[in-house]
Amino acid sequence: MRGEQTDSSLTERMEPIQTAFDVSYAYPVVFSRGSLEPANPALRDLVAGGSGRVGGVTEPVRALAFVDDGLLAAAPRVASDLAAYAAAHADRFDLVAPPIAVMGGERSKSDPDVVRDVLRAIAEHDLCRQSVVLVVGGGAVIDAVGHAAATAHRGVEVVRVPTTVLAQNDASIGVKNAINFEGRKNFLGTFAPPRGVLNDFDLLATLGERDRRSGIAEAIKVALIRDGAFFESLVRDGASLAAFAPGAMQAMIRRCAELHLVHIATSGDPFERGSARPLDFGHWLAHHLEERSGFALRHGEAVAIGIAVDAIYSEKVGLLPASAHRILDLLATLGFPLHPPALADVDVEQALESFRAHLGGRLCITLLADIGVGVEVHEIDPALVRKSIAFLGEHAPC
Ligand SMILES: NC(=O)c1ccc[n+]([C@@H]2O[C@H](COP(=O)([O-])OP(=O)(O)OC[C@H]3O[C@@H](n4cnc5c(N)ncnc54)[C@H](O)[C@@H]3O)[C@@H](O)[C@H]2O)c1
Ligand SMILES: [Zn+2]
Repeated sequence: MRGEQTDSSLTERMEPIQTAFDVSYAYPVVFSRGSLEPANPALRDLVAGGSGRVGGVTEPVRALAFVDDGLLAAAPRVASDLAAYAAAHADRFDLVAPPIAVMGGERSKSDPDVVRDVLRAIAEHDLCRQSVVLVVGGGAVIDAVGHAAATAHRGVEVVRVPTTVLAQNDASIGVKNAINFEGRKNFLGTFAPPRGVLNDFDLLATLGERDRRSGIAEAIKVALIRDGAFFESLVRDGASLAAFAPGAMQAMIRRCAELHLVHIATSGDPFERGSARPLDFGHWLAHHLEERSGFALRHGEAVAIGIAVDAIYSEKVGLLPASAHRILDLLATLGFPLHPPALADVDVEQALESFRAHLGGRLCITLLADIGVGVEVHEIDPALVRKSIAFLGEHAPC
């Protein structure tokens, strides 16, 4: 009788249904200049690329553009240039409303109204999953708008046009986005590969000194864990990079972006299911410092300090042959402030635990076994970290 069947007899009779499927991703990261000049097809091709032919007719792709208000303050023409660009390509690219300004900087990730306003605009303009969200700005705005787009209709496609060094060489080229939640950095987020990324070097022209410099930290990071020759080229180009010479900056951005993308595409773990996170070298401390500084420190500035401390620690723990001073010298040449007040407030145990909890599972921190060689460790000695921080305080410029 049915009522007498136990749960276990049901389980025995019902074979589980096993599913398995793969989804592959491919997207371009394009390098250009003058991307808002109508004669330049790069942006149109990214927005309209792959657009469906409906009944034999190619429909223009409906798009809504969100632009960082810090960029607009420095370069107000970007909004009208973008609208004019879309008008010139109206057969492929239907900008359904004038570009919408979004609060720039980390506040865009911390204020939940920003994501809500983006979602509201997507809803009001009836964007669907065949439409495109175009986001132009720094890494924070790209994260916030990207997060909103990834959750609207379970994912509206995004074309990113990053306008800071850090966004061009790291933040906007990868597969994830995140916003902050109740003071916790990157607590809410999704994995959502973009439709495409357009790195326009001309859009960096209005950047302030801090935002030109801060992104270079991510290049040093990826060079240290992956590519010793790239590190040597950064040292060779140190003076040019410190002066933000365009040739050196462009070469740095291109190689940094490439190393990040190669890692994402070939690591076997693009969506970070495991707890190893090599590209987060220097980041366990950086995220804590950003929080402790009330986000007054730029992400890249905090990463520079995280790199410095982890390099000193790697040497003190006997992993890195005496070369931490070369890393400190490069950071100093580039003008990174390596000993800000927030460093005095660091709670090493809490920072490590919060990083572990963010990754899930065991603590996994990348250190250096050599310049260009990252190595994963699962234990960190907090007392030695404090000594490394003290060493930095004694040997680094403020
Ligand atoms: N999603 C990822 O994979 C990923 C990876 C790394 C970093 N990030 C995130 O990126 C963020 C940092 O990004 P960021 O360094 O680009 O800083 P940011 O986005 O905070 O921008 C810095 C400032 O520059 C302004 N700005 C942007 N473009 C400008 C321009 N061309 N001219 C003048 N001003 C301009 C912004 O308004 C802001 O005030 C952090 O929140 C970090 O967590 C994300
Ligand atoms: Zn980073």
